[in-house]
Amino acid sequence: MEKTIIVSNRLPVTLSRKDNKVVFTPSPGGLATGLAGASKDMNSVWIGWAGFSPEGFQENIDEIRLNLEKQRLVPIFLNDEDVNQFYEGFSNTTLWPLFHSFPTYTSCHEEQWEVYQKVNEIFCEEVLKHAGEEDLIWIHDYHLLLLPGLIRKKLPKAKIAYFQHIPFPSYEIFRILPWRERILEGVTGADLIGFHTHDDVKHFLTSIQRILGMENKMGTVRAEERIFKVDAFPLGIDYYKYREMSMLKSTERQVGLHRKQFQDVKIILSIDRLDYTKGIPERLKGFDTFLEKNPEFREKVSLLMIVVPSREKVQLYKDLKMEIDEMVGNITSKYRTVNWTPVLYFYRSYPLQSLSAFYKLSDVALITPLRDGMNLVCKEYVASRHDESGVLILSEMAGAAKELSDALIINPYNVEECANAIKTALCMPLDEQKKKNV
Ligand code: UDP
Ligand code: G6P
Repeated sequence: MEKTIIVSNRLPVTLSRKDNKVVFTPSPGGLATGLAGASKDMNSVWIGWAGFSPEGFQENIDEIRLNLEKQRLVPIFLNDEDVNQFYEGFSNTTLWPLFHSFPTYTSCHEEQWEVYQKVNEIFCEEVLKHAGEEDLIWIHDYHLLLLPGLIRKKLPKAKIAYFQHIPFPSYEIFRILPWRERILEGVTGADLIGFHTHDDVKHFLTSIQRILGMENKMGTVRAEERIFKVDAFPLGIDYYKYREMSMLKSTERQVGLHRKQFQDVKIILSIDRLDYTKGIPERLKGFDTFLEKNPEFREKVSLLMIVVPSREKVQLYKDLKMEIDEMVGNITSKYRTVNWTPVLYFYRSYPLQSLSAFYKLSDVALITPLRDGMNLVCKEYVASRHDESGVLILSEMAGAAKELSDALIINPYNVEECANAIKTALCMPLDEQKKKNV
């Protein structure tokens, strides 16, 4: 029977070592949560990096494989050096900043490019072990840009789709990449290439036209003997999962406990991975300015800020962690009273039910990335407000802003605008909130 082979750098679970044992934890980020829902009802296998180096654990590998196989997951094991050059290196210090339009954070190293190619080939070999002619091979995200082309060479008739979960930058930024032709030749090996937004599609089509000379007609490209299509497919969430989770008795109980603790203090929620694309320092400046300009709100509102650890070996992420810690410390020392903490800062990841309680508890969600492919957290917030109350403040730079246009849309770099939006949100009458959320 025809099946879908999902391929992404991350599996929906990540393996790590604790006390000499292998531990399975849900993977961070929107790709893992978004696809876990989509793959549930499919006849599929999912191939991805186990997030774990097998060195010193060889005897456990068969057991790990078997365990994952029961969940239709196929692990790829990479050694520490390859992870360093491919994942922390080329994927997250070259492609990630460049594709999010931060060229000054982008570094380009030939040896990392070499390992990026090698790891894409490792993924290709694994896919070939599972793929039959009738199967759909569905490749995800910027770690595997070469994979469609590599598979095409081995299986010329394969059905291949590529979906990118992060933005595609403008041609002027993309052209900086020394390996731009090779990258585009890789992706265009797919039959269908998807992005979250029409802007990403436009940027990609301009890049393949200017760099590879490929013309398109309404997103359809004829390349030698093949035709491929490029289009926008905004990723959604499993709406009913979040809706139903927020209505569970156990979630209600958790919300009740939090409410008792916070009493009448209103809660503004922010949830992100620790990442410079998420605009966390800018958001803290906005909240600080809001408290500065509106002293009557002190002791009446707190920012509940969940920051999920991410890419902790990459220097920019380490620096950002220090910056955030310091900013939270400064705001706390400036405004805190015996009875009130302005920023409730949690540096950890929470399971779905705790998130659901936070979504339900919070009067406002403040989601202000400087650049984001889509952003699922804002969609989860709206889905979890089953009485339709609550206000979403959303950055115009998130892909989701194109869909959630009833939110208070702000420019995340504009600190004053952020501070004003917080005040507007806190003062918004309930009927207006409900009108915006239906
Ligand atoms: N998330 C989670 N636990 C947390 C914080 C976040 O499971 O403590 C999930 C959240 O529910 C969402 C995803 O992580 O589904 C974040 O996806 P998003 O698209 O917002 O951002 P990304 O991290 O992919 O850039
Ligand atoms: C974003 C990317 C995903 C990635 C996730 C978490 O959502 O689009 O591909 O999996 O961040 O990042 P990580 O580096 O931990 O996989």
